[in-house]
Amino acid sequence: MKLLHLDSSILGEQSASREISAAIVARLRQVDPSLEVSYRDLAADPVPHLSGGYLAVASGADDTGSFTAEVADSTAILDAFIEADIVVIGAPMYNFGIPSQLKAWIDRIAVAGKTFRYTETGPEGLAGGKRIIVASARGGIYTPGSPAAPADFQEPYLQAVFGFLGVTDVEIIRAEGLKMGQEQLDAALAGARNAASELPALPKAA
Ligand SMILES: Cc1cc2nc3c(=O)[nH]c(=O)nc-3n(C[C@H](O)[C@H](O)[C@H](O)COP(=O)(O)O)c2cc1C
Repeated sequence: MKLLHLDSSILGEQSASREISAAIVARLRQVDPSLEVSYRDLAADPVPHLSGGYLAVASGADDTGSFTAEVADSTAILDAFIEADIVVIGAPMYNFGIPSQLKAWIDRIAVAGKTFRYTETGPEGLAGGKRIIVASARGGIYTPGSPAAPADFQEPYLQAVFGFLGVTDVEIIRAEGLKMGQEQLDAALAGARNAASELPALPKAA
């Protein structure tokens, strides 16, 4: 089984989502030591933003040579996602959404004909069957029913985009309220560490 581990926090050693995503991967390695894990730090090793020139070449236009390397990199990113059985994503909330570094990666894996397709009855995800686990970290509290819940464009966005690609049961391990005092921070991180340590080997639905 292949596991793709991504982090996108810009906060390095101080990052909560990095700590949680690492705990998730450690747990999954514990329950399946044969896991093949690959890792990309999207903050240290960012994926470039899409450009019109790149999209034209990726869609078959002639390349003068300037996009050859980018097309190869993009194909490798897409293949790594498609081949992964499990994807673990460290995803902090930045300005109510996800870090732009993570969005740039999503722009490379949401590819018509590869991970979704349009049909006469609407779009169809082609990447189902994958397990996706998000390590979510945020300064405030946005859980459903809380006053700030309507401003959560981080977790619902990830659920929507991966749902569009066919993964409808995105698992989320969350530490929130991390900027609301030491007590809340300690409790939230302890809860997330505990949830990671109890993750089952197989998707909950299995
Ligand atoms: C650039 C930036 C933007 C942020 N925006 C929000 C926000 O909109 N809402 C929120 O609750 N917390 C926000 N925070 C706080 C982070 O969500 C919080 O620090 C969390 O721990 C970040 O995850 P990380 O530690 O893995 O980087 C922001 C932090 C940064 C650095």
